[in-house]
Amino acid sequence: MCYNTGMKTIIEQINKTHMNRDVIEKAGDILKKGGLVAFPTETVYGLGADALNEEAAQKIYAAKGRPSDNPLIVHIADMEALDRITKEVPEAAQKVAEAFWPGPLTMILKKSREVPKGTTGGLDTVAVRMPDHEIAREIIRAGGGYIAAPSANTSGRPSPTEAGHVASDMEGRIDMIIDGGAVEIGVESTILDMTVMPPMILRPGAVTEEMLEELIGEVEVDKTLIDPDSKKAPKAPGMKYRHYAPKAELVVVDGRIEAVVDEINRLAKEKEEAGSKVGIIGTQETVGRYKAGNIKCIGTRTDESTIASHLYGILREFDSDGAEFIYSEAFAAEGIGSAVMNRLLKAAGHRVMHV
Ligand code: TXA
Ligand code: MG
Repeated sequence: MCYNTGMKTIIEQINKTHMNRDVIEKAGDILKKGGLVAFPTETVYGLGADALNEEAAQKIYAAKGRPSDNPLIVHIADMEALDRITKEVPEAAQKVAEAFWPGPLTMILKKSREVPKGTTGGLDTVAVRMPDHEIAREIIRAGGGYIAAPSANTSGRPSPTEAGHVASDMEGRIDMIIDGGAVEIGVESTILDMTVMPPMILRPGAVTEEMLEELIGEVEVDKTLIDPDSKKAPKAPGMKYRHYAPKAELVVVDGRIEAVVDEINRLAKEKEEAGSKVGIIGTQETVGRYKAGNIKCIGTRTDESTIASHLYGILREFDSDGAEFIYSEAFAAEGIGSAVMNRLLKAAGHRVMHV
């Protein structure tokens, strides 16, 4: 694959409360001309292109090194924008949109003819999301209203949660990076397929199964997401790839917390004695108990959202520290914890030790 690495990437800082119109308009112009602009959302940074311009959307695949059968999410800024890109919006989808948009939720709907197949990876359905981020929505509007935006990382690397992560993957490959500071949530949106009955969660995120069921009744979860041995391909094409991967071999250790700490200490000591660089992912509750390795605190067990917001950043830090082995505690798979465990297990290539 060829990359345009000679490109000069403009990096602009922008503040949510005092938004610089000139910067927004510059980003909008680039998008309208078919260029690529990375921008913050509440989940992770996105790499934007005009979703209705097939050539522009194709540039995303080249910049990310992404397989072209992996469809893109179309981001909108206003509810009125939905009709043009969808064939129909079922009543339940309308309800979900009213309750969770703008927010960390993507819906799969039947696409209209306006959406090129280059955006949907050849599928007849389209993924749509309205992000809960003022800067993102302003850029979407300025760029014509329909912006395809995957996470702004090189394919296979952890998703970017700050502009520096985007720059390290994308500088020289895209036209512009909008730096709006660190994101809030830190894991990608929940994906809900509304073209099947009952609706099915294809990727867990901050909007949970429980929250959706309370609103629209029964919701299924794609079994392949939780069963590591499943032979079936996940329904969201992107979920089959070994994503979010750090360079080191990552192992998740699950069990009673005292036993987990002991086992991680044992493994870290063994690897260090053999001359390897070891990283440890602990929590506020446990970091004081580790005795070897490069220890990082991911957040607190009393609030799983702190763990979600630091996960990708920590995996990237271990990459720059040159870690060869990373041992992580497992976390409760409840609420946003199910999104955390889904991403962590994928990053670990499903290497889990039970103690
Ligand atoms: O939070 C997010 O959703 C972020 C921010 C930037 O908005 N975006 C994001 O995009 O995570 P991406 O491209 O990294 O992940 C999109 C996922 C992929 O797994 C893809 O296969 C799936 O959505 N997807 C997209 N269109 C689909 C469709 N029509 N049917 C099934 N899955 C689809
Ligand atoms: Mg991604």
